[in-house]
Amino acid sequence: MQIADGVVEAIESGLLVPGERLPPMRPLAARLSCGLVTVSQAYELLAAQGRITTRVGRGSFVAEPAKAEAGESPFMTRWEPDLGRLAMRGERMEGVLEELSRASIPGAISLATGHPAPETFPLSDFGRALARTLAEDPPEAMQYRAARGDDDLCEMLAAGLRTRGCRVAADEIIVCSGAQQAADLVATVLLARGREVVASESPAYAGTLGVFDARAVSYVAVASDRDGIRVDDLDRVLAEYRPRLLYVNPVAQNPTGAMLLERRARRIVELARRYDVVVLEDQTGHAQVYEGRAPSPLLAYDTDGRVIVMESLSKTVFPALRIGYLAAKGPLLEPLVHAKMRADSFTSTLTQRALWRFMAGPAWARHLRHSRHLYRARRDALVEALTVELPWARIAPPAAGLTLWLPLPARISTRAAFEAAAREGVLVMPAEPYYPTRQGPAALRLSFGDVPEESLREGAARLGRALGRLM
Ligand SMILES: Cc1ncc(COP(=O)(O)O)c(C=O)c1O
Repeated sequence: MQIADGVVEAIESGLLVPGERLPPMRPLAARLSCGLVTVSQAYELLAAQGRITTRVGRGSFVAEPAKAEAGESPFMTRWEPDLGRLAMRGERMEGVLEELSRASIPGAISLATGHPAPETFPLSDFGRALARTLAEDPPEAMQYRAARGDDDLCEMLAAGLRTRGCRVAADEIIVCSGAQQAADLVATVLLARGREVVASESPAYAGTLGVFDARAVSYVAVASDRDGIRVDDLDRVLAEYRPRLLYVNPVAQNPTGAMLLERRARRIVELARRYDVVVLEDQTGHAQVYEGRAPSPLLAYDTDGRVIVMESLSKTVFPALRIGYLAAKGPLLEPLVHAKMRADSFTSTLTQRALWRFMAGPAWARHLRHSRHLYRARRDALVEALTVELPWARIAPPAAGLTLWLPLPARISTRAAFEAAAREGVLVMPAEPYYPTRQGPAALRLSFGDVPEESLREGAARLGRALGRLM
């Protein structure tokens, strides 16, 4: 696809003109260090698109541009949007959410959401910070603002990354409307041409994958284990597919709860440099670590500005904030700021100022301690109950985050497990949306963030009965 795209670009920019002969396949394959079959597939695709014609024994030539039929407007040749690939991809989460709401019977326990616990939301402290913002900030603070974000909040977020070993300045932070927008801005800047190759750990957070889907990317999945993304597989994938972007969620990996080994973090950045790949590291959830210490962000090892950090504050504060951020350097920073400006001018300054005041006060550390304590207790309750109710299961207790990944035995399909669980009154997330290519071993994602311990135990018992019937 990259070769075909290159030829199309050359035709459209006038570098290749109608009737001109394309390079013969064999020398081109040698020059691009790829297989002859890859070039041949690219030429076949171009021929199918009518961009080139192939004459046996003579080679391939740039086709004449299609002429409009007599009487037809030249602008009407393709009025229908090409939805083929996008329409198919649009279904990553939407279908599942519908199925979940259909399956939700009265009394059902949902281990499907991935949401944080509302009882941790620091509403009174945040309310006070909000009232002070309105009372103390001058009216000019609520004026139209620069796209990047509030200076005080940007400095605070940059300082947070600096304490974790990164060299980041306040003006390298872009405050976004949730990490979802952060991912979207990255896609706008790096994946806008469509048909880009994105390497992603697999499984990975489905929300970000959905953003990439909308850019009609091709995925290549990188294997991961309990210690995060596997660098041996990453080396192979980067060498073979030369992706434009690598997506990694190193600390509280959603869905698996895995935490990346520090030495792997260093290797990932080395490989990204060797193969010239931009890395989007999703640091969401680094405040919810239950075992050991979170590794330094990949950004700490970055020497040439190819690592972009994104983080959501939805689970550390509360989702209604709609605050996340990007940290980016060098030539990537400005296009991201411009993309933010085009998207929604800037993120609510009122919320940003209140968040800054809240995080600057003593309530912030107290809140983090309290919510980590609650989530650890819920994680332990779920792991313990699953160990009893699903004695056959290979359960890797999540080191961080709010979700647990349950691989299923080969004889149980994800669909059968999902349906049996729903009939038994427990809702779970099927694995497919978390696989970049939507294919992978049967598994379920179980969330414990917003479920009290008693319901986690009951949910595990129901799941045990449901899956037991399928064994
Ligand atoms: C790993 C990860 N990245 C990004 C997000 C998106 O967060 P936001 O609510 O800020 O859009 C989430 C939310 O669940 C997440 O778990």
